[in-house]
Amino acid sequence: YLESVTEGPLVGRHVVISAGGTREPLDPVRYLGNRSSGKQGYALAASAARRGARVTLVSSASLPVPGGVELVPIETALDLQREMNARAGDADVIVMAAAVADFRPAEVGATKIKKKFGAGDPEAPTVELVRNPDILAGLVEARGEARRPYIVGFAAETGDADGDVLHHASAKLERKKCDLLVANEVGAGVTFGQDSSTVHLLRPGREPVTVGPADKNVISDTVWDAVQEELL
Ligand code: CTP
Ligand code: CA
Repeated sequence: YLESVTEGPLVGRHVVISAGGTREPLDPVRYLGNRSSGKQGYALAASAARRGARVTLVSSASLPVPGGVELVPIETALDLQREMNARAGDADVIVMAAAVADFRPAEVGATKIKKKFGAGDPEAPTVELVRNPDILAGLVEARGEARRPYIVGFAAETGDADGDVLHHASAKLERKKCDLLVANEVGAGVTFGQDSSTVHLLRPGREPVTVGPADKNVISDTVWDAVQEELL
């Protein structure tokens, strides 16, 4: 257990990390979710704590919380947005490692949806979705011209007919306007829930750096090495 780390490159820094998936309720017993395990975000939190940072981890994942890390539990994308926005002003670094649901059910049933609704009802209900806010884009916009907090985004990409992983990741960095984009290579059975992955670190105006395949702890240390270079 890390009581408190008083030496290290991140002493005196507050880092706020989101991790894992979000759960978007349909009714009191059901939700729409995704396969994100939270492992990469938790590894980043542990690594930052070992380097002396004060670490706040905003997550719905049910993994053991690393020593010295404060957990803020959330469920939905809207919860996550509220908790991240509330802490952005005090953060030196924000890492959006969470897999945020792009959509949520338009309506949440107050009572359990029943299989049979009534005579003449359709065989199965249709779930209408609405867009969730882009939390990362909101954090970048709210920062404006300031240099603090340093903002890190994550992306899970596959190559396709439009281009390879790096092509899609570069486009996403330009869209998101964060300071560093960590792009995971994903495919069938790759990355989600695994202990290792291959990532590309992309920064505006710099050549991409590829790490891996490597353990998520190794990737975390490489990410913090890169972030530390940029901190004022
Ligand atoms: N993100 C976010 N809010 C959302 C969706 C994503 O803050 N509503 C963040 C993620 O935490 C991640 C980054 O944006 O750091 C990229 O997420 P990704 O899903 O790859 O990007 P999208 O813009 O949602 O694009 P798409 O899913 O269409 O590839
Ligand atoms: Ca998305």
